[in-house]
Amino acid sequence: MIRFQISGDVSSRRTGASFSLAGLWGALLVLGGCVSSTPPSSQAMPESASAGVAIVQVSADAGEAVYKRACASCHDGGASQAPLRAALTALPASRIVSSMEQGVMRVQASGLSPDERQAVARYLSRAEANAPAQGVTQAGLCPAGETGRLGPVLVSDWGMSSRNTRAVGRETTSLGVETAARLSLKWVFAFPNASRARVQPTIAGDTLFTADQFGVVYALNAKTGCIRWSLATEREIRSSLIVEADAAGQAMRLYFGDYGGWVHALDIQSRSLLWSVRPEAHAQTTITGAPRLHEGVLYVPISSLEVVAAMDGKYPCCTFRGAVAALEAGTGAVRWKTYMVSEAPTRQGLNREGAEMFGPSGAPVWGSPTLDLARRRIYVGTGENYSHPASDKSDSIVALDMGTGRIEWSFQALGQDVWNAACANGANCPVNTGPDYDFGAPPVLVDRPGGGSLVLAGQKSGYVYALDPNRQGAVVWKAKPGRGGIMGGVHWGMTADANVLYAPVSDLTAYPQDAHLPPQSGLHALDLATGRILWSNVLPNTCGETSWRCSPGLSAPATLAPGVIFGASLDGQLRAFAASDGRVLWTFDTNKEFETVNGVRGAGGGIDSAGPVVAGDAVYAVSGYDRFGQKAGNLLLAFSAD
Ligand code: HEC
Repeated sequence: MIRFQISGDVSSRRTGASFSLAGLWGALLVLGGCVSSTPPSSQAMPESASAGVAIVQVSADAGEAVYKRACASCHDGGASQAPLRAALTALPASRIVSSMEQGVMRVQASGLSPDERQAVARYLSRAEANAPAQGVTQAGLCPAGETGRLGPVLVSDWGMSSRNTRAVGRETTSLGVETAARLSLKWVFAFPNASRARVQPTIAGDTLFTADQFGVVYALNAKTGCIRWSLATEREIRSSLIVEADAAGQAMRLYFGDYGGWVHALDIQSRSLLWSVRPEAHAQTTITGAPRLHEGVLYVPISSLEVVAAMDGKYPCCTFRGAVAALEAGTGAVRWKTYMVSEAPTRQGLNREGAEMFGPSGAPVWGSPTLDLARRRIYVGTGENYSHPASDKSDSIVALDMGTGRIEWSFQALGQDVWNAACANGANCPVNTGPDYDFGAPPVLVDRPGGGSLVLAGQKSGYVYALDPNRQGAVVWKAKPGRGGIMGGVHWGMTADANVLYAPVSDLTAYPQDAHLPPQSGLHALDLATGRILWSNVLPNTCGETSWRCSPGLSAPATLAPGVIFGASLDGQLRAFAASDGRVLWTFDTNKEFETVNGVRGAGGGIDSAGPVVAGDAVYAVSGYDRFGQKAGNLLLAFSAD
C-alpha cells in the first residue's frame, strides 16, 4: 500500500502554504498499514534460531530485515521527529524493546512478533559494550565519607527566578566579561547508554541535581562531577528538578515531571519519592516544562505526545487539551486545573482511513509557568491546535489567577493554526494546515525602570511580543528578530534584564514558510522600551552541511550573567556573548568524544531544549539531543574560570 513517495529531501516543497516534511509521508506509509499488512518475513525468525551459536548470526540478519521493513523509513532520516538510527544504537536492547512494547513505538511495532522485536533491538543496540547497566553505575561514585553541602540554594529552577528571566546576579555568580573569556573544562559526566541529555541542572550548595533519559535522578558533586547518590525512577525525565529549601536554606525536596505525565516529589534526606501524581488522565499526557514552586504550591505545565500519535491514520485525532495544574506541594493533591481549550472535544466526522476525528484539541503548555506575584497571576505560552475546530487560546499567552486558575486574559498571536505530526499528507493532517507556531519559550516578566511591567513572549514564528499586564495583555510593541519556522524562531527560552531582552533564534534552514528570507540563527538584543534590535550576532554554520538537522541556531534557552549571555547551539557550540554588543567572548565545542569522570563512554552532540546554568564561578551545560534526528550525545559538562 504505497501512496506516498519516501524522500529524504526535507527541503522539498509540496504546498506553498505551510512547510511539508517529505519524510513524514514515509512515516505515514508505514503507519498506513505496511507494518501490519506485510506478512512476517520468512527470514524474520527461522526455526534454526532456537539452537546454538548460529542464533546470533541468524537473528542479527533477521533484525536487519525487520529494521529495513518496519523502522528504516523513519529512522534513516525520513521522519522529522524520529531519532536517527545512530542515536538508537546508543540505547540498550531492553530499552528498544520496551519502547516497542510500552513506549512511544507501540503503534509502529504493533505488527511485529515478540521475536521480531527482540531481533531488531539486538540488531540496533551497541550499548552493552559501552556502558555499565543503567542506573547502577559503580564507577564515578564520590569517595566514601564525602559530605556534601545542600545550601544555600543557588539555582532552584529552570527559569532562575519566578519570572523566568533566566538572569543570575552577583549573589549567584562571580562570572563576568573578564572571567567568562577564561573558562576551562573542569569535568564531564556521561549519562550511561543515553542518546540525549536535556535536563537543565539545579544547584544547592556544592550539589548538582540532574536526571536522565531512563528516569535516573542524580545528585553530583558540582565541583568534581562524582556521584553522591542516584535514584532510579520509572520514566524519562526531561525537565529540571525543582529544589525546595527548608527553613535553614538547605535543599530538602526535589519536584519534577516525567515523560508519562507524572509529577513527583522526592525527599532528599531519605532519597525516596514522597508522592507521584498524574494530574491529567489523558493517555498521551507528558510533562515537558519544569513545574514552578511557590509557597507550598506547585504549578505544572501540561503537554502531550498526541501530536506524534496522530501520525497513525487510525488514531482518533485528537482529544488532548493543554492545561496548567496547581498541586499541593505537600501531598500532590490537585487544587485546580485549567484547560487551555475551554470546550471538551466532540466528534467531527471521519478521516479518510475511517478513524473518528475529534476537536477542538491541542494548545499544549510546554514551558515553565511564569509568576507575577504583584498581580497574583501566572503566565504561560500555548502551542497550536492539533485538530479542527481551532480555538481561541492556541499559540497564545494566557494569564491565570494564581489562587483559582481562572483565566484573566489571553493574547492570541496566531489563530487557526491547526497542525500535527501527520502533516503534510497523513489521514490526520488537518485541512488548511497551520505553520505550528507555538509559544514554547515561557513568557518573561520584567519591571521597567520608569515604572510599568512587560510580559515578553517569543514565538516559533520569529516574532517577539511585549504585552502590558496592566492592560489585559495589550501589545506594547512587537519585533521579528528571527525568520521563524516549525523549530523556531524563538524556541525554548529567552533571557532579560530590566532594559534589554536577549532572544536566541534557532531558524533551522530549509523550512518553506518564509524560506525566501535569510536565517537569523544566533543571538539578538532588543531594547525593551521600543522593541528595536540593538544588536544581532548571526552565527556561522560550522556543520559543514546544509541539513536542517544541524545548524548554528540557538534553539536552547540562553542565560544571562552580569555582562555576559551564555548560549548553546544546535551544532553543539557553547558560547559566551558580551551583553554590550553581542561579540563572542568564549567558545567551546562540545560536539566530540570526551573522557568522563564516571568512566562511561561520552560524546556530545547537538544542544537543544536545556540551556546553560551559571552558579559560583562555574557554567554547566548538557550536550546531545536525538529528538529531531539531531546529533545524539550523553554529556553534562562543567567549566570554571579558576
Ligand atoms: C512512522 C515513523 C516511525 C517508524 C516506522 C518507527 N519509528 Fe521509532 N520513532 C519515531 C519517532 C517520531 C520517534 C520519537 C518519538 C518521541 O520522541 O516522541 C521514535 C522513537 C524511537 C525510539 C526512541 C524511544 C525512546 O524511548 O527514546 C526507539 C527505540 C525507536 N523509535 C525504535 C523503533 C523501531 C525498533 C522501529 C521499527 C520496529 C521504529 N522505531 C519504527 C518514528 C518511527
